Amino acid sequence: MSRLLRIKPLSMLSEEASEEGEHSLKRSLGALNLITLGIGAVIGAGIFTLTGQAAALRAGPAVALSFVLAGFTCAFAGLCYAEFASIIPIAGSAYTYGYATLGELVAWIIGWDLCLEYAFGAATVASGWAGYFNSLLQQFHIYLPPQITATTGTPLVFYHDQWIQLMSLPPGVSDVGLPHVTGVVNLIAFLIVLVITTILVIGIKESANFNSAVVIIKVAIVGVFLLVGGWFLFKHPEIAKTNWTPFVPPADGHGNFGWGGIPTAAASIFFAYIGFDAVSTAAQEAKNPKRDMPIGILGSLVVCTILYILVSLVLTGLVSYKTLNVSAPVALAIDATGVGWGSLLVKVGAVFGLATVMLVMLLGQTRVFYSMSKDGLLPKWASAVHPKFRTPWITTIVFGAFAAVMPAFFNIDVLSELVNIGTLLAFTIVCAGVWILRVRHPNMERPFKTPLVPLVPILGILSAAYLMTRLMLFTWAVMIIWLVIGLVIYFTYSLKHSRVQKLAAAAEGD
Ligand code: ALA
Repeated sequence: MSRLLRIKPLSMLSEEASEEGEHSLKRSLGALNLITLGIGAVIGAGIFTLTGQAAALRAGPAVALSFVLAGFTCAFAGLCYAEFASIIPIAGSAYTYGYATLGELVAWIIGWDLCLEYAFGAATVASGWAGYFNSLLQQFHIYLPPQITATTGTPLVFYHDQWIQLMSLPPGVSDVGLPHVTGVVNLIAFLIVLVITTILVIGIKESANFNSAVVIIKVAIVGVFLLVGGWFLFKHPEIAKTNWTPFVPPADGHGNFGWGGIPTAAASIFFAYIGFDAVSTAAQEAKNPKRDMPIGILGSLVVCTILYILVSLVLTGLVSYKTLNVSAPVALAIDATGVGWGSLLVKVGAVFGLATVMLVMLLGQTRVFYSMSKDGLLPKWASAVHPKFRTPWITTIVFGAFAAVMPAFFNIDVLSELVNIGTLLAFTIVCAGVWILRVRHPNMERPFKTPLVPLVPILGILSAAYLMTRLMLFTWAVMIIWLVIGLVIYFTYSLKHSRVQKLAAAAEGD
């Protein structure tokens, strides 16, 4: 039992953090790079796609309140992440933090669980990306065979010059007489993940530059949407009033709409916030991690929260929330302003913007596996660094392939719920970890301190657990199966090969 609770000594972590040389990662990221890395991960399919679905199917205009609720959950967890990231500035995210505080078994569970977050996260965003990309092509009357644009069995109809999902038809429009086909595979989503994987294998420096440029475009486009949409609503307040009334639509008896729909939608749009913690996985590539990690994490979270609340208000003000269950809802809404170039701009921005999210997600994934392999919990190939590119290339390719196959066959709502449950679980463990570490090592040097401990960690745990209870039973079942597979690997491989275990055994033998 004591072996399972064995912690990785902080001295060992610090040693690794200061390691330089041939086989370590390059230190090339500054504070601004980290904030852009954070925003690059955060603004993505959540706001561009899932917000429309959540408004249409779960909460109506009150989805803005769902963003407030999910934002608080993230703020509590973000404060805890920032403390950990400042104490333990090395690659590995919640996994590393868990290893230093709660023991090897918990660390393994978190690391394994983070796959749900990062690999499935990239898969989810690929699904959203494919929706915008296809919509962009169709705007130019370029039609791919519709069967290769949607997952197996998805019914599609041809409406207003576009192939759309049957369930995206506006309310009251009949599909009788419209051409129908059934989706076979989402090949677009599959291919984009392969492209991103190639960029990541080539290198972090190139990826960070690409990321910074695209993040600027992405934030600019969100800004244009807010200005154009906000100005339109200011000029036509009667339209906003109609669309925002009732702000909280009556409950449908299935947990959607009404006041109960707000947390249900929050559990789904929570996805929009995911990614700020990916900043912490780049700690080993940060120039001054102790100072810059908290700035990167909290800075990106604050910027995104403000933008999300505004975007959801403008979105549901411009059009009836009932029409927003489409693959490009932000483009649909800006169309309502009559600004002809608006929807084109949004689609182009989403296509570039969502690409950076996939990039950061896959980057986070590979770095977690890199750390786990360095610790001996996974085979050596997972931390093999390419001699020329200095990237963990084998892990990148393996997870790239995995993340490519998922959106080819599973829909965005299924994938995003899996990501949400995995991330919320990681949040609860990180919050608990901060509290435990304060009790066990009260005098440790903490360049950034989470305020009001234990109140903030407790609120973080409770709010994350509450959102988890709003997810589907299917999602819970997949998570439990995933964790059981992870435990089998831990007990059959990792426990025997763990570096920490070996060092401890050697010390005991002395
Ligand atoms: N927060 C990221 C997104 O919305 C994962 O795409």
